[in-house]
Amino acid sequence: MSALVQMSPQPAAGPAGRFISVEGIDGAGKSTHVEVVARRWRERGLDVVHTREPGGTPLAEALRELLLGREMDALCEALLVFAARRDHLQQVIEPALARGAVVLCDRYTDATFAYQGAGRGFDLAVLTQLETWVQAGRQPDLTLWFDLPPEQAAARRRAARAADRFEREAHEFFARVAGGYAARAQAQPGRFVRIDAALPVEQVGTQVLQALEQRGW
Ligand code: TYD
Repeated sequence: MSALVQMSPQPAAGPAGRFISVEGIDGAGKSTHVEVVARRWRERGLDVVHTREPGGTPLAEALRELLLGREMDALCEALLVFAARRDHLQQVIEPALARGAVVLCDRYTDATFAYQGAGRGFDLAVLTQLETWVQAGRQPDLTLWFDLPPEQAAARRRAARAADRFEREAHEFFARVAGGYAARAQAQPGRFVRIDAALPVEQVGTQVLQALEQRGW
């Protein structure tokens, strides 16, 4: 082997250049754990982009305000979340992945299938078409799905801050959303890892770290 080859940089370790999404119904407790993971990887020197949907760019954050605050039908919701996603992909996610950052995204398209699809009963074929147009095939490498019975999630939400338009929905809505996530996970088992979010917080954290360590991350 020539000296030149020996001196070339090692390929970036761990999850560099990977796209990881985090999902679950409101109240499942995903945010705390994602922050722990982001901190851990930053301490290892990785370039970590921790972002969220809808949001992550000025335009997408403005669309988020509308989505969470204004009354509208399910098609408007779907168009807003996909418009926000388009901007987020172009401005943040794709450039970050291209430079070898790890992207940790709080919600992505599985949320659209769960909330607008299963929750609102909106046409899944239309969502699939929008997904194709907007994402050009960009899917997460891994999706951590925080699964929690809707009753427990509701109890956690009541203990937290003021509810937005989705968080005020009835139990039946969240039961459908939870079913929507389960259906997506069943359809794409290679991408999803189910985290049992009903366990005590330390055990939830352990499951998350195990899922990452299994991938060498
Ligand atoms: P969430 O990410 O839970 O933020 P917070 O922790 O600040 O409440 O809130 C975003 C809400 O948007 C959540 O109720 C789900 C909803 N949502 C959709 O309905 N469709 C989508 O495609 C996405 C990404 C989110």
